[in-house]
Amino acid sequence: MEPTMTNNQKEQDLSQYPYLDKGLEGIVAFSSRKSFIDGAKGELIYAGYNIEVLAENATFEEVCFLLWNERLPNKAELDDLQAKMTAERDIPETVYAYINSTDKKAEPMSVLRTATSMLADSDPDATENSAEANLRKAIRLTAKMPTIIAAFDRVRKGDEIIRPSKKGSTAFNFLYMLNGEEPGPKAERVMDLLLVTHAEHGMNASTFATRAIASTLADIHSAISGAIGSLKGPLHGGANTAVMNMLKGLDKDTDIVAFIKGKLERKEKIMGFGHRVYKTFDPRATLLRVMAKDLAKEVEMEYLYEWSETILKVMKDEKNIDPNVDFFSATVYYSMGIMPDQYTCIFAMARISGWTAHYIEQMENNRLIRPRQLYLGDKNLPWKKVEDR
Ligand code: CMC
Repeated sequence: MEPTMTNNQKEQDLSQYPYLDKGLEGIVAFSSRKSFIDGAKGELIYAGYNIEVLAENATFEEVCFLLWNERLPNKAELDDLQAKMTAERDIPETVYAYINSTDKKAEPMSVLRTATSMLADSDPDATENSAEANLRKAIRLTAKMPTIIAAFDRVRKGDEIIRPSKKGSTAFNFLYMLNGEEPGPKAERVMDLLLVTHAEHGMNASTFATRAIASTLADIHSAISGAIGSLKGPLHGGANTAVMNMLKGLDKDTDIVAFIKGKLERKEKIMGFGHRVYKTFDPRATLLRVMAKDLAKEVEMEYLYEWSETILKVMKDEKNIDPNVDFFSATVYYSMGIMPDQYTCIFAMARISGWTAHYIEQMENNRLIRPRQLYLGDKNLPWKKVEDR
């Protein structure tokens, strides 16, 4: 139950802290050069480049360089980053041992959170917090995360872990480790596009968590482990899994219009819709919508796309709410044969680039993040012995 304030407390405390903003909606807590969102126009920019331009032209590795350095790499710089990321793909034996030994029914995001935290133990820069060391750790974390995700997926299915390839892009290698065979160019391109579109997104909850942890001068592994925990929630990255769980609950006889209207009447949230910042179509949803249509057709699951379009129309008509990134990405992942509870892990595998960029930026001009709270409780109560309570 929400605590209530007496008028006395209200006056007293509001005069001390005049501004309370639940959800921090109207608060600008940081300046950043990493990304810009215009929620009214549906515009997303990573360090100067519109998401549509990046989606059409950039690889995930180029986006990583862009977010870390705030400019695009030249050929030599891109080759160098790719070589470093390829060399850093493998994970320590202790982490493989953990993945092999943990409960096969564990949530993949929980395994990812624990394994990512474990990477700190053997990182050669673990206790070094210079900008150079943090960039090296950012590269290592970004390179190793796909290995953790793919390894646990194989272990829980009873398959042998496939060690990372020494060639190919992050997208190529991830699909190779996940499926045990090299992906074709189209599958690689789709995965790359998913990584590019999920890489960075302003002051979302997990990036805020990253910066809040960074602001205590805790190490980057602590910040990223916290960010993974924050992303896991269904109001944030966990929404893509929730979208597919909803779609999987439907069948060809379901009256989708009635289904959605019923949920809305019961005041239930429709996952994959709405956004704190966008008040129009999320530009990433526009990009993924095209991909979802194409892929669902290719694997003869057009019905998934058709149901999605029906849901989209009902949400527009009934609530005037548009989809966010997680709505169509669910169909894209499903069409690629990826298990629904892996979707949020893939989101994390992309967003690690943005999180680490924000960690490094926070360290450049740090101030401890420490907001205040409005106290609603009693004060100065007399102590009662336990036997008298
Ligand atoms: N389904 C039904 N109604 C909704 C939805 C939804 N998905 N989203 C917002 N609304 C309604 C909400 O009920 C409220 O209506 P009313 O004013 O009549 O009470 C109004 O819109 C404002 O909603 P809110 O929850 O106050 O908005 P918020 O800015 O706090 O929430 C949100 C943003 C993303 C948490 C919310 O839209 C939501 O819960 N969406 C579903 C979860 C989801 O898809 N999350 C992924 C977000 S994008 C990817 C990411 O960054 O992780």
